[in-house]
Amino acid sequence: MRILVTGGTGYIGSHTVLTLLEGGHDVVVVDNLSNSSEESLRRVGELAGRDAAFVKADITDEAALDAIFGEHSPEAVIHFAGLKAVGESVAIPLDYYFNNVAGTIALLRTMQRRDVRTIVFSSSATVYGEHNPTPYIEKMEIGAMNPYGRTKEQIEDILSDLGASDERWHIALLRYFNPVGAHPSGQIGEDPQGIPNNLVPFIAQVAVGRREKLMVFGGDYDTPDGTCQRDFIHVVDLAEGHAAALRYLEGHAGVFRWNLGSGRGTSVLEMVHAFEAAVGAPIPYEIAARRAGDLPAFWADPSAALHDLGWSTTKTVAQMCEDHWRWQKNNPMGYRAP
Ligand code: UD1
Repeated sequence: MRILVTGGTGYIGSHTVLTLLEGGHDVVVVDNLSNSSEESLRRVGELAGRDAAFVKADITDEAALDAIFGEHSPEAVIHFAGLKAVGESVAIPLDYYFNNVAGTIALLRTMQRRDVRTIVFSSSATVYGEHNPTPYIEKMEIGAMNPYGRTKEQIEDILSDLGASDERWHIALLRYFNPVGAHPSGQIGEDPQGIPNNLVPFIAQVAVGRREKLMVFGGDYDTPDGTCQRDFIHVVDLAEGHAAALRYLEGHAGVFRWNLGSGRGTSVLEMVHAFEAAVGAPIPYEIAARRAGDLPAFWADPSAALHDLGWSTTKTVAQMCEDHWRWQKNNPMGYRAP
C-alpha cells in the first residue's frame, strides 16, 4: 500500500515507518519537525534499504495537505502528528487543541475530499482517566484528566462520529500504554528536547551522564513497592501493532478501538533496576514528592488486540532497557552531533 504517515519523524512514527518499509509498503511522511529531526528518517532509510518520501508540512495547513494527497495518492493514513506533553498542555491549551484537534480535522477533511477513508490514529491510555479500575478495557467509559488527554479523547469522538456518518470509513483508535525502548540496531530511538518528562528517557540521560539523578515521584503509593506501576511496551512491538491494525482495516469497515499494551504492570523502581542491569552500573535516584495528576497503577487488558489482530507484545522489560540503552549510549545527544 501507499501509506501517508503524519508525525513520521518522531519516536513512535519513525519506528512504524521502518516496520512499514520492511513490510513492502511505500511511505510518505508529513511532519513539521517541531519536535523531531529528519535525521531519524535518513537512518530509517538506511535500515530498510530504501527511503520513505518526506514532505515538511504542518497538518493544520489544509492546502499543503491537499497538495501532498494530490502528488502522492496515499491509500491509507497513520496519524501520529501532535503535541504530547501533559504539563505543557495545561499551560498552552489552545496550542494543543489547535494542533491536535484542528490539525486532525484538516487531515480528515482532506482525506474525505481525496477519497481516502482508512486511518489509524495514535490515541493514548490517558483517555481512561482516573475512575476506571485496572486493567483497562476498550468498552470502558473514557474521561481524560488534562488538555493533552482531552485532545486525544475529542479526536476519538470525531473519528467515531465520522465512522457513524459514512460506512465507507475504516478507522482504528490505538490506545498506547507507555512506549519505551528503541530499535535493536541502536540507530533510531526517542530524542526528547529539553528535560525529559517521561521516566525511561530520564533514566537513560542519567545513565549517560547528562543528568545527575532521577527523582522518583512518590514512594508511598498503595502498590507493592510504593512506586507507581505502568504498562511499558517496546516501541518495536507498538510499531507492529500499527501494521496489524492496518491489515485488519483492509478487510473491515467501521470504527475499532484497541489497547496496545503488555497487560503487565512494572513499577518505577523495577524499571530503574532493570535499566541498571542493562547498563551494568547503578542509576542514582531519590524518592521525591508525588507528581500531580499521576495515577498509582494501570495497565492494559490487551486481549481484544490479540483476538482481532493476532497481535501481542513479544519483548520483555529487560529487552526494552537493553535496546533503549544501546540507542542512548550510541547517541548521547540523540540525533544532534555530540
Ligand atoms: C505520561 C502522561 C500520559 C502520556 C504518556 C506518554 C502524565 C501524567 N501522563 O504517562 O498522558 O500519554 O506519558 O508516554 O504526564 N516518573 C518518575 N520520575 C520521572 C518521570 C516519571 O518517577 O522523572 C514516574 C511517574 O511519576 C510515573 C511513571 O514514572 O509514575 C511513568 O511516568 P511517565 O513516563 O511520565 O508516564 P505516565 O505518567 O504514565
